[in-house]
Parts: sequence; C-alpha cells; structure tokens
Amino acid sequence: MKVLITGITGFAGSHLADYILENHPDVELYGVYRWRSRTENIEHVLHRFTNVECDLRDANNVRSVLDYIRPDKIFHLAAQSFVPSSWRAPSESLDTNIIGQVNIFEAIKELKIDPWIQIACSSEEYGMVYSNEVPILESNPLRPLSPYAVSKVGQDFLGYQYFMSYGMKIIRTRGFNHTGPRRGDVFVCSDFAKQIVSIEKKRREPVIYVGNLDARRDFTDVRDMVRGYWMALSGNCDPGEVYNICRGKCWTIQQVLDMLVSYSNVDIRIEKDPKRLRPSDVPILLGDNTRFSKATGWKPEISFEQTLKDILDYWRQRVN
Ligand code: GDD
Repeated sequence: MKVLITGITGFAGSHLADYILENHPDVELYGVYRWRSRTENIEHVLHRFTNVECDLRDANNVRSVLDYIRPDKIFHLAAQSFVPSSWRAPSESLDTNIIGQVNIFEAIKELKIDPWIQIACSSEEYGMVYSNEVPILESNPLRPLSPYAVSKVGQDFLGYQYFMSYGMKIIRTRGFNHTGPRRGDVFVCSDFAKQIVSIEKKRREPVIYVGNLDARRDFTDVRDMVRGYWMALSGNCDPGEVYNICRGKCWTIQQVLDMLVSYSNVDIRIEKDPKRLRPSDVPILLGDNTRFSKATGWKPEISFEQTLKDILDYWRQRVN
C-alpha cells in the first residue's frame, strides 16, 4: 500500500511518518515537501521513505507528482498553520491552504485515481463559541475569527463538496490543539517552554512574555493525534463526514503557563506583550469526540502533563 503525507517535514507530518514507519512496516511511504523546507524533524527517517519536492500551489506540479506516486491513501497535512500569520498575510494562508488542496483534488479527478484522503481541518473553524455550546459537536455553527480559520472552513467544505460531486473518499478531521516535541516555537506551549528553558540556561532575563492567558484550549498530544489520523483512514469513518479529534478537556492558557513553570526550578516574572494579542481570539475550544471515538475506538493515551514535560525536555536539548 502506498501512503502519501503532504507536509511530512512539519510537526504533525513528521510524527505521522514516525507512527507509520513504526507500526505499519508494509506501507510504502511517500512525502511531499516544499523547496527549502527545513528537514530537521525527519532527518532520522529520511532513508526510510521517498521524499518528493512539490509546491502544492502549482497545479501542474501536483498532478505530475500524484501521477508518479499514485497513492492509496493521502494524509493532507501541509498548511500555513500559525493563526497570527494569517492576519499579516491573509492571501498567502488562503492560497496555500485552499488552493493547495483544490490542486490535490483536481489532480486526483483528472488522473482517475481513487485514494482515501484525510484532510486536516481545524477546531479554529468553530471560532466564536458560546458558553452554552460546549463541549462542541461537529454540528455547531462555524463562526471563524481569523483568515486562517476561514481557510480551514474552505478546506473543510471543499472536502464535503468533492465527496458529494465526485464521490471522492474524503474524511474531514477537525483537529483541536495538538502539541508535543518538535512543535514550532511560535505556538503557545512551545513558545512558553522555550522561554523557560532559555531562562534555565541563563540565556535571558527571568521574564516570560505572554499574550491572552484567558483563552481556553483542548490539548491533545501530537502522537495521539496522528494515531487518530491513521485510524480515520482505516475503514470505519464515513467518506464525506466530519470528525472532531480532541481530548474533551480544556485548560486556560494561564493554567498551561503555570504547569510549565511548575516543572522548572527557576523564578520567573510574567509580562504581557501587546504584540502577542490577536485582533480576535477564539475564547474557548472544548470538543466532543464521541463521533470519532465511536467510529474508530480512538482515545487519547498521553496525559497533558506528560506532553508539557516532553516539550520542556525537547527544548532543553536544543537551547544552547
Ligand atoms: N502563540 C502564542 N504565543 N499564543 C499565545 C500566547 C503567546 O505568547 N499567549 C497566549 N496565547 C494564546 C493564543 O492567543 C491562543 O488563544 C492560544 O494561546 C493558543 O495559541 P496557539 O498555540 O498559537 O494555537 P491556536 O489555538 O491559535 O491554533 C492552533 O490550534 C488550531 C486548532 O485549534 C494551531 O495549531 C492551528 O494550526 C490549529 O488549527
């Protein structure tokens, strides 16, 4: 079986590659990556899969790469994934995320191949969630609060539309926040952990800069999340359908900060950095995973406490 991961050099992509290589040795694994992507996340497994350069925004490039691979399963994880970047350059997020996915779908249609496709949609699509709407079901209204969220709504609905129009076997997963080792240092858990480790190593003043600490997020370990992605394409999810993948428990960002600080032994001052505040921030994401758990039997296995400790250790090995 040929399996393709888009965005294999990224955070979730590299963990999914690890999961597949370890648990499904029969798989012929392919990855596509963008020119000049950093390869540090996959350096340790580069010899174990075929990595093909491809710009998903280039339709001809996508078609020729898919023609060469002809995958049985596609995990579409490549994206512009940092919410604040989408305010700075909205058209780039929309282009990469929406047009990149359209190019994949169109290539599949033209090549007349019939792979199972998982598309990584996002809990950010729910956006403005009210207190009487949690835990969030898949049927909740989508009220996106950032260009990034709009791009994910676009990907999500294109997944539905290509299933309805052409019968493509598309599974839409709405992943809630996931984190762990290798997480880019702009995302909150990694950002705070890296700051703490830099203070531990006396590389900076004992001050942590933060944004909105009142937001609440439902965090899952990335290793549980990618196992969920694999299960989504293992035959028990319905094509065209959408599934929340989440823990079903949320923490304020203040609590996340307190936990990380408690796993360190340095004295730290906390300072609000206005540059870290967003034009609009999603107040609460707390998901209901019943539909996905019932279909696949998935449940998270790694505690959030463990994940945060692993992130700190990851940065302790990297900050000099
Ligand atoms: N990054 C960051 N840095 N976030 C901060 C900070 C800070 O210093 N201080 C507070 N926050 C708050 C943000 O305002 C937000 O409410 C929350 O921490 C989480 O921020 P991120 O880690 O940047 O993630 P996100 O929730 O915006 O988006 C992530 O999750 C989505 C799924 O819900 C990303 O992984 C998206 O790609 C993903 O789709």
